Amino acid sequence: MEYCVTGKVLEFLLFFLLLLLLQQCSSLKVTVPSSQSSLIGRDVLLPCTFRVDNPPVNPKFLALLWHFGDKEVLRYDTKGKVSSPRLSIDEKLILEGNASLSLSNLTISDGGTYRCSVIYSPNTQQKEIRLHIHAVPEVAVAKRTLVQNQGTSLQCSVTDFYPQPITVTWLRNGKLLANSVLGPLHQNADGTFRQNSTLTLTPSDTLNNPEIVCQVQHESLPTPRQDSYKVQYGVPPSVQVYSAKINGRPEQVFVCEATQFDPEPLQIKWILNGKIAEDQRKNKDGGFNKGSYYFLNPTSGSQEGNISCEVDHETLLHPITETLQLRQEDEEAKYSAGNIAAAIFLTMLLTGAAITVGLWFLIYRKKYFQRFRVSHIHRSQMLDGEKVTLYCVASDCPKDPQVIWTVEENDGKKMEITEDEPQPQGEGNMLLDQEFSVRTDRTETDGRHNVTSSLSFTPDVSKHKGMSVFCKFVCDGRAKEEKLDYLIILKPKDSMKLSLSESGEVLSCLTLQEFYPRDIQIRWSCGVGHYKELESKEKPTDNSGSSFNIESECKLPGHLFKDPGFKVRVTWNHRSSDEEESREFSATDPDFPWRPQMEEIIKPDTLIHGTEGKFQCKILGYFPDALEVKWLRREAGGQELFSVCPSEKYKIPEMEQKREADGTFSCTVSLIVSVSAITEKGAEFICRVGHPSLGEPLERSTGALSVRGVPVMTNITQKDTHIIMEIDQFYPQNIEVTWHRAGKDRKDYKKIPDADIHNELYENSDGSYRLTSVNKINKNNLYITALVQHETLNSPIKKEFLREKKVYYLLSEGQKPDPLPKQTDPAPNNEESGRGSEDAGKTQIPPVTGQQNVGNAPGEGKSNGKKD
Ligand SMILES: *[C@@H]1O[C@H](CO)[C@@H](O)[C@H](O)[C@H]1NC(C)=O
Ligand SMILES: *[C@@H]1O[C@H](CO)[C@@H](O)[C@H](O)[C@H]1NC(C)=O
Ligand SMILES: *[C@@H]1O[C@H](CO)[C@@H](O)[C@H](O)[C@H]1NC(C)=O
Ligand SMILES: *[C@@H]1O[C@H](CO)[C@@H](O)[C@H](O)[C@H]1NC(C)=O
Repeated sequence: MEYCVTGKVLEFLLFFLLLLLLQQCSSLKVTVPSSQSSLIGRDVLLPCTFRVDNPPVNPKFLALLWHFGDKEVLRYDTKGKVSSPRLSIDEKLILEGNASLSLSNLTISDGGTYRCSVIYSPNTQQKEIRLHIHAVPEVAVAKRTLVQNQGTSLQCSVTDFYPQPITVTWLRNGKLLANSVLGPLHQNADGTFRQNSTLTLTPSDTLNNPEIVCQVQHESLPTPRQDSYKVQYGVPPSVQVYSAKINGRPEQVFVCEATQFDPEPLQIKWILNGKIAEDQRKNKDGGFNKGSYYFLNPTSGSQEGNISCEVDHETLLHPITETLQLRQEDEEAKYSAGNIAAAIFLTMLLTGAAITVGLWFLIYRKKYFQRFRVSHIHRSQMLDGEKVTLYCVASDCPKDPQVIWTVEENDGKKMEITEDEPQPQGEGNMLLDQEFSVRTDRTETDGRHNVTSSLSFTPDVSKHKGMSVFCKFVCDGRAKEEKLDYLIILKPKDSMKLSLSESGEVLSCLTLQEFYPRDIQIRWSCGVGHYKELESKEKPTDNSGSSFNIESECKLPGHLFKDPGFKVRVTWNHRSSDEEESREFSATDPDFPWRPQMEEIIKPDTLIHGTEGKFQCKILGYFPDALEVKWLRREAGGQELFSVCPSEKYKIPEMEQKREADGTFSCTVSLIVSVSAITEKGAEFICRVGHPSLGEPLERSTGALSVRGVPVMTNITQKDTHIIMEIDQFYPQNIEVTWHRAGKDRKDYKKIPDADIHNELYENSDGSYRLTSVNKINKNNLYITALVQHETLNSPIKKEFLREKKVYYLLSEGQKPDPLPKQTDPAPNNEESGRGSEDAGKTQIPPVTGQQNVGNAPGEGKSNGKKD
């Protein structure tokens, strides 16, 4: 039996081997992997290789096809290639048997079955390959502040994943939590999914700031991905909404009050008949009790329906919404006294109030008064110019409550202003020469009384500062009182001044003026990106009691301003503003007082060829001493700027910065240029200055330069019976050389005719000019003078010679005349030396005999005569 089975297996194996052999012998074999996976957005290669029996592959018999599902997506044959933009094959590799398909920027819809078909006539073979697309989930726990000892839920959002199956587990301090459910699955436009998991926490689960982790497993992830949240506690807000009419005005004011919450951020939204109401004169009170007003103007808005206040806070799973019915004007008239309209409705807010008069009585009273509560005192915005109206609301009193307003002056003097009978116009209570008027509107539903009371008056800054207002409701013998401090609040006017200390610190001084009340907190901080607290000195002053000023000074090391990102911030807290006020400054501010100033470049009137030209620029008034100076050059007629670097041609002396008496720095920067006519003519030098306080660097330019060359007498020689005079280095080329002669008596000089003079002009390679002037006079016992005139010379250069016995002597004052050096070597007769002044003297003269001596131009000490 066993043998039999083995035999069958052997038989089968043989058959299989044969099949394999047959396949090997077939002249085409295509190989692909069975599947491939990649991430969304990436590129992928779907490998497909083939082998033919006897390579090389003959392209005439070859065709390639790629299908995605049933759709042909790419074709390659003798006619060429057809493909779509995101799909490609490398044509160069096809004849090597590589038909792999590249897909770029994968999307979810690219996942599926691809077929690689190779036709090598007459054979054909095709193979399938599955492409799996994955997208890696993002995991985030919604980090709400929780309420201690309270059950709640947390959400973990898992987004942008593919394919669908995910596993979400929750851990509390590393231990698995069971109470979670996956929410509905949503698909994004790109085919990826998102899904939330909601964890339900019991009160004990939230104890002791546990760490809650949301962990997600997905086939795209080798290890689970997670987000964690260390539980933080907060206090949810209590919310109260009420409405009131403003005395004698058509508007209705709605007040939404959120109290006792923590942390601070809280959003209040008004919703009028289901739609978010625009900020129509909305106002907020500061601090951790927040209020919002909404003014409804009957002429502009709807009078029917309802208005809601929606309060959101991070301790809340869902926002708290309190809704009020809007009432008709005439309906309200029923409850109102005189011309005063009333509309009151109050909701929620707990009052913990127990009255201890026996157990039964306690329970009875507690129940009786349980819902009686009094709102904060709210202040309307200033209406009718200066008039202010304060509101206070009591609700759910079992009996009609009595209202008592009390005004307390800052010296402790108090005055009660009671309501009751509507007061005839103009007969209000007087205090501090001020008329106060009280209006109280009452409504009753099912034996519960709601009361809105308002106190109106025109405050006077000097009289009413420091005044407090109390609003007391007495409900069946039980009183509740609210207090409003600082009725008058003056917002400080701020200004900032910067100065420099002797030791190089920046003194920044903030002045806040005319604020009230006195309490104010000022904090300084500074840094680059991250702010660090700083110490400061405060100096408060009292403006004869009616308001206050304060100066706050902070010292900062000056070097910190070298970083343009360095910022100083000063913030102050005052009752006058809901939010902290602040000012910030840095060296980059346009009004930073120590930005460098640049004077014009000081330059020589003309640059003299062959000398050094110095350009200087003064920079002043800057702080800190972080100056960057760069010299640039622009060629004549060019646009481009080139950096000037120290070299043989350019010297840039180190700049010396000086501290001025006012603490700022100044310096003079210079550039020394070896001037040559050809390079500097028309060129321009630019001094560019950078400083942390400057966005764009400052620049000053020399303007297009002009260059002059002063003629230099380089060589005076005698050749044969001629004087050869060489004049070099002048620019521009216009020059005049005149020769005169006189007899033995050295009088009556006469101009030597041009015919006896031979002048020749050459241009040197450095742009300057050179001239040789040959005097071919041929008489003895003569005095001869040569005069050279050029625009650069104040007075002409004059040379005087004596000719005696065929020898010329150069006459110089107070010295025995020397014979001119003789030019002995036959000078090379090529006319252009191309080498500037040094060579200039040696070259260009027609052969003459001579002697040599040297005469130089005024002011030129240089001699390049040769001595025999
Ligand atoms: C086929 O060509 C692709 C490039 O298109 C290359 O990445 C791949 O390695 C090649 N496969 C083989 C087996 O040579
Ligand atoms: C990739 O595809 C997405 C969606 O189709 C598109 O928004 C994106 O621009 C593409 N990126 C590239 C580099 O082509
Ligand atoms: C998932 O939770 C987040 C955070 O709580 C929320 O913003 C989002 O709307 C929720 N998404 C779904 C699909 O429920
Ligand atoms: C408030 O108004 C909205 C829109 O007019 C309405 O859908 C809703 O039912 C009203 N709610 C109440 C309590 O009247």
